[in-house]
Amino acid sequence: MRLFRFVQIAGLVSAVSSFAMASDSRPWDDTKLSPARRAELLDGQLTDAERLSLLHGDFPLLMPQRPADMPLAAGYFPGVPRLGVPPLIESDASLGVANARRENDDATPLPSGLALAATWSPELAYDGGSMIGKQARQKGFDILLAGGVNLVRDPRNGRNFEYVGEDPLLAGTIAGQSILGIQSNHIVSTIKHFVLNGQESGRHGLNAVIDPSALRESDLLAFQLAVEIGQPGSAMCAYNKINGAYACENPETLKALKEDWGWRGWVMSDWGAVHSTVSAAMAGLDQESGEQIDREVYFGEPLKTAGETGQIPPARLHDMARRVLWGLFSTGLMDHPPQSGGLDTAADAKVSGRAADQGIVLLKNRSDLLPLAAEARSIAVIGGHADVGVMSGGGSSQVIPRGSLIFPAPKDAPSWGQGEIFHPNAPLAAIKAHAAKTSVTYSDGNDIAAAAASASRADVAIVFATQWATEGMDASLTLPDRQDELIRAVAAANRRTIVVLETGGPVLMPWLDAVPAVIEAWYPGARGGDSIARVLFGEIDPSGRLPVTFPRGETQLPRPLLPGADIGPETLDFKTEPLHFDVVYSEGADVGYRWYEKQKLSPLFPFGHGLSYTRFRYDRISVQGGAGLVVAFDITNTGKRAGFDTPQVYAGGDGQTNRLVGWRKVWLAPGETRHLEIRADPRLLARFDVAQHGWNLAAGRYRVAVAKAAGAPVLTGEAALDAARIAP
Ligand code: BGC
Repeated sequence: MRLFRFVQIAGLVSAVSSFAMASDSRPWDDTKLSPARRAELLDGQLTDAERLSLLHGDFPLLMPQRPADMPLAAGYFPGVPRLGVPPLIESDASLGVANARRENDDATPLPSGLALAATWSPELAYDGGSMIGKQARQKGFDILLAGGVNLVRDPRNGRNFEYVGEDPLLAGTIAGQSILGIQSNHIVSTIKHFVLNGQESGRHGLNAVIDPSALRESDLLAFQLAVEIGQPGSAMCAYNKINGAYACENPETLKALKEDWGWRGWVMSDWGAVHSTVSAAMAGLDQESGEQIDREVYFGEPLKTAGETGQIPPARLHDMARRVLWGLFSTGLMDHPPQSGGLDTAADAKVSGRAADQGIVLLKNRSDLLPLAAEARSIAVIGGHADVGVMSGGGSSQVIPRGSLIFPAPKDAPSWGQGEIFHPNAPLAAIKAHAAKTSVTYSDGNDIAAAAASASRADVAIVFATQWATEGMDASLTLPDRQDELIRAVAAANRRTIVVLETGGPVLMPWLDAVPAVIEAWYPGARGGDSIARVLFGEIDPSGRLPVTFPRGETQLPRPLLPGADIGPETLDFKTEPLHFDVVYSEGADVGYRWYEKQKLSPLFPFGHGLSYTRFRYDRISVQGGAGLVVAFDITNTGKRAGFDTPQVYAGGDGQTNRLVGWRKVWLAPGETRHLEIRADPRLLARFDVAQHGWNLAAGRYRVAVAKAAGAPVLTGEAALDAARIAP
């Protein structure tokens, strides 16, 4: 039992006494008190050494000696057993309990973050979080390094697959719900990487340059919304600098998080992201993670000395510890210490499968080629290792369920990588199961001529194309390994060719005109192969909508050339001075689809796009203004099948690009009509006024559109809004 492991680690004799009910000697055990009060009471009992032990922790992989019974983790703090503070055992978890090189470990991978965002479903985000949080507890972890909400400012960012898209409202909602789900298990989730870690190339030295108002209206707004919804126990500051100061010692951004948003949790550093003691602590960093990776243990002896010499006032040291304790109390971790065991990966895979079902996006479907009839005579399946599994993304978030296949990573991948990992739910087997009477062949696609020949002999060809992305390097928008050539050859051999993409994010499709149907399956997780087949054969209606714009080419991007692209992949050497260079976010808050609108560019596929096998009509729009924007309309399923749709509401004022202010994902039977009403958060239409330090909603007329996607309005309207000032 986990409790006894904890006792072993701590070397205590009595487990029970560690978690006793409230008593005079342990007033912080009283659950009727607020988390802040309980944290204050417990902090009052800590010795200086115990307090310090909460503020800097280990990277277990580099610990000379690890506690005997601790699962190999990303981070470790011994806790304060004498007062009932459990050891803090941290696992990465963007998409599931990550592996961290544990042998024979098993965990259930969710689909990638972009796939989850493509569901546009707060419920599925919550359920996914709840599942991985439960697995974390069952594996003996109590802190999940999850909640990645960096906006997709560049489709080449190697970690886009861990994040939740380019729009602050969608990203903040999905990440917030996922955090809420994780923490429903009485464990802590982080939110990360705070803030503007928008690319992997040169992440340790790059300086993100952005107008401060625009930052509030974009990346910070995504964090703000996610913090409000999810109330994470902790936030992880990023590697990069923002407007000249490192994220982990940036007074501006950390003040927004702690003071403006009233958030009471603790700021932990990313691994190797601390650069000072006094500046960092005084700017708002509360805890140094993975101390072996930093150049020195800044929050060890140097923090102690800074406290003794008064460079850091005692009140701030208490505040740092109380923030950690607030995270442990507010999530219920202190009252419900983890208990390992009871993993049920089969049941948990269903949660992952539901998210994949609804996150797969049907991008193109000329002449209704899809769904496939189960009685097609022959299908040629080609490429993408579809015979063994589905692609996953690399780096600290890597989940490796049993049965995964590992292929060598490309030569220029980060030195610490684990290879290209395929999750063991093969699309080929799933396709065969859906088409029992059909002849289904497979060719791996390496021999392009042979693949085309197999396509020419079949009724239908399905090409699986993969793009591996990983932390520690950025991705190319061009599919690797001659896959574009493969797709062209197959499409030339068979007019009924379907392309299924398993990619970390957007890719270019130079063959698009030649291919009648394209599905974006992202990295679809534990039951990804089944979900792909279910969409192909129409067992479910495709209901994913893009959370990110697909460009026609690099020239459409705000930075056609990725800054720092020549730096090359990361190594584990975090101690050498990194290269310092600026990444100028001149697009400001006009991220993603807003950039395309502003530049009058038409992307390959717009944000919000996704087709269905049925048809939906929107009508009867009414728009109410005044003190708040309320948009109402009807939606009807005019097709012959039941299905989900996701009508989106965009709005904008004078001089503003249009932006998403709300959406609803609804399930409708054929012929069914629903009346929907969407209220816009006024901050989405306001400008952030730095001088007056708050949001400023200008009085005036605002355009409104109910749309199928960004730039694809179906109904339009207008409303006059009153001026408003809103707290920062
Ligand atoms: C990543 C974080 C991760 C940490 C611990 C860092 O390299 O940026 O996202 O949580 O490692 O594994």
